[in-house]
Amino acid sequence: MTAISSRMTRFADVNSAVLQFLTNSDYTRKAGEPGICDFAIGNPHEMPLPGLISALEYQLQPKTEEWYAYTMNESGAVQTVVQSLKDRYGLAIEPENVIMTTGGFSAISIAIHAVTDPGDEVIFNSPPWFFYEAMLQGAGCIPVRVKVRPDNFDLDLEAIRAAITPKTRAIIVNSPNNPTGKIYPPETLRALADILTEASARNGRIIYLFSDEAYRRILYDGVEYSSPIKYYVPTFMLYTYGKQTLAPGQRIGYIALPSAMPDVRSVALACLTAQLTVGFAQPNALLQHALADIEKTCLDLEHLQYKRDWMIRELRNIGYDVHLPEGTFYLLPRSPIPDDQQFIRLLAEQNVLCLPGELIEMPGYFRVSLTANDSMIERGLPGFKAAFEAARA
Ligand SMILES: Cc1ncc(COP(=O)(O)O)c(C=O)c1O
Repeated sequence: MTAISSRMTRFADVNSAVLQFLTNSDYTRKAGEPGICDFAIGNPHEMPLPGLISALEYQLQPKTEEWYAYTMNESGAVQTVVQSLKDRYGLAIEPENVIMTTGGFSAISIAIHAVTDPGDEVIFNSPPWFFYEAMLQGAGCIPVRVKVRPDNFDLDLEAIRAAITPKTRAIIVNSPNNPTGKIYPPETLRALADILTEASARNGRIIYLFSDEAYRRILYDGVEYSSPIKYYVPTFMLYTYGKQTLAPGQRIGYIALPSAMPDVRSVALACLTAQLTVGFAQPNALLQHALADIEKTCLDLEHLQYKRDWMIRELRNIGYDVHLPEGTFYLLPRSPIPDDQQFIRLLAEQNVLCLPGELIEMPGYFRVSLTANDSMIERGLPGFKAAFEAARA
């Protein structure tokens, strides 16, 4: 007798290593202990941002009788999104084409449910975010993995072209990329748009682009962010506020659709329907009321860049091979030994917790989250050195 659905069994299989890491690993046993230096996942290790706290405190007091009523796309929140996209990126998005979601997770899931059918193929680029594959399978789609270029982590356009078939319905693009920190440049996005336009015409149906922009505000060295939506009309812009506020437990995000997307009203309505059928995946009323202030709240990027440069300098001095990310709050050094899981154990012996590359389809690497606080970095660096030396020995 089986207690759970075969869908959940499949989901657990696809994510077994990640689920084990998050529920039963050195990480879960040690995280939170005194003296531990936690670089494993992008969780906060400092008190929440004052701007976020005051926004929530202010909005907590009801202003109307309906303050905590069922809230779908609350007009104030939608206006905030429309204005932000206009001011920051010069994009003109109609309010009726903004769908408020419970962060990036649900934005991605809703996009998939809105426009794919069981059996459709959806391309994703590897290394990917942990959950794309399982989310696609959960919706009955066939995930198609395409590796990014190993030399510079840019999209491998020829491999994408070759992966497209008559069944291809969408491609997921995540820029700035977790875990490589790569921002795909305009020329790559333009060339991708040409490939997708040509293939859509050949197939006689649209290939959508799901643009996962979770880290769009986490940029270094004054680089500019280019969204794929500028180059390819059938793009779902998918955003979460969880990264810029570093408060991923307070869940709010959105989907924005360009007005020129074919049949955009039906697509927006399909998103709304998908939200209801997966279980009211709209953000809580309080977060929607507070969005104008949340929009202005962002973690200290200058300090994040300081931490990035500090860690890269020190890790390179120790002997690690690590490239400079353009965005996100992750570093992706090479493991000094081929077995990254074993190297993660050596780090854990030094009270340094990191994510093995194996879990993010980057065997031979490991991921370091810069959301660790300064004191963790200070205390952790000797541990990185000791583990490096133990691995080399
Ligand atoms: C690339 C990427 N997309 C989406 C998400 C989901 O973001 P949220 O938890 O804010 O929904 C994450 C979170 O780690 C991410 O790294």
